[in-house]
Amino acid sequence: MSVTARGAHSGENLHSGEDLSAEEAAQLSPEEAMIAGAEADGIYIVHRRERFPIAGTKAEKRAERTIAAVFLLGFLSAVGFIVVFCGAVPFEWRLPGEGNQNFRFFTPLIGGLLGLSLACVGIGVIMWAKWLLPEEEAVQDRHDGASDLTQQILGAGTLVSGYQDLGIARRSMLKTTLGLAGGALALTPVVALVGAMIKKPGRGEGQSLFSTPFEPGMPLVHIDGRRAGPGDLLPGGIATVFPGVPGGTKDPDAPTLLIRLRPGETVKARRGQENFGWGDYVAFSKICTHAGCPASLYEQKTGRLLCPCHQSQFDVLQDAKPVFGPATRSLPKLPLDVEVVDGQQYFVSRDDYPEAVGPSFWERP
Ligand code: FES
Repeated sequence: MSVTARGAHSGENLHSGEDLSAEEAAQLSPEEAMIAGAEADGIYIVHRRERFPIAGTKAEKRAERTIAAVFLLGFLSAVGFIVVFCGAVPFEWRLPGEGNQNFRFFTPLIGGLLGLSLACVGIGVIMWAKWLLPEEEAVQDRHDGASDLTQQILGAGTLVSGYQDLGIARRSMLKTTLGLAGGALALTPVVALVGAMIKKPGRGEGQSLFSTPFEPGMPLVHIDGRRAGPGDLLPGGIATVFPGVPGGTKDPDAPTLLIRLRPGETVKARRGQENFGWGDYVAFSKICTHAGCPASLYEQKTGRLLCPCHQSQFDVLQDAKPVFGPATRSLPKLPLDVEVVDGQQYFVSRDDYPEAVGPSFWERP
């Protein structure tokens, strides 16, 4: 095969017309090897020019500083992501209308910081290629088959030449800032695990993932604030009730299905929860344990609750056990009691749900 290696800037022929042996190829400089290798592979570099023929000029330094600043911004935003994710910034969840609502900024903030970091590294690399790598135009012929040894050596020279073009050895500022940004970005996938070890979801003050506003003696109310009582439902009836506290009807974990069984129906209760019902009433969380949709379509005849999102079905008579669809966990059951006010009976909860409501997450108590 005929290969030609030319001086990149002068256009002079360094090697031409002859097949290069492996020994001859090994003698070439990386740039000569890259050009010869490209030609051996049917790629002809028709134009190649250094962006900064004289190294270390003010213009080159300015370009380097600008790119380094972009990498540095990528580093800082990745560190910001890690800090915010690990809980260094207090974002406490609150009921709507109750206290500081800045927890709403948490997700946009970590998403924005991670996106900014990725964008900075990407943009910095593009700027490096556009501003500092030699300007080059090449045309390529197609060929079939594997490369022989000579071509492989020339190919390696191409890689080394490309590395030298990057000027990593002499551009220590870019190397450092890219390393910082890349290193910080590489940490972000593990930060979820580390952050969770530092601060477990739902653990600590408030136990937000493990608790709802229900507590001993908490009145159950309808959406309009009316207290729910045993006289509200006909056999086979169902109603959505909430904890009777300010904001209780807006609490995403609170919606509860109050169900009145039909005559003769009994619930096969979980161990330890045999006395959670009251008379012919039972109450289950309305939040589907698959992905959190409201499971509120109740089929009286079969005693099944259907979640419209992905068609999970829960058998109320088996203590809301999932019997169809993607949900794998029974709906949590609320312990019921009744208090008498002015001669009228009203439902209250005997305690909070004994387990977390809603979709399962990665660690259960
Ligand atoms: S959210 Fe209920 S089945 Fe998916």
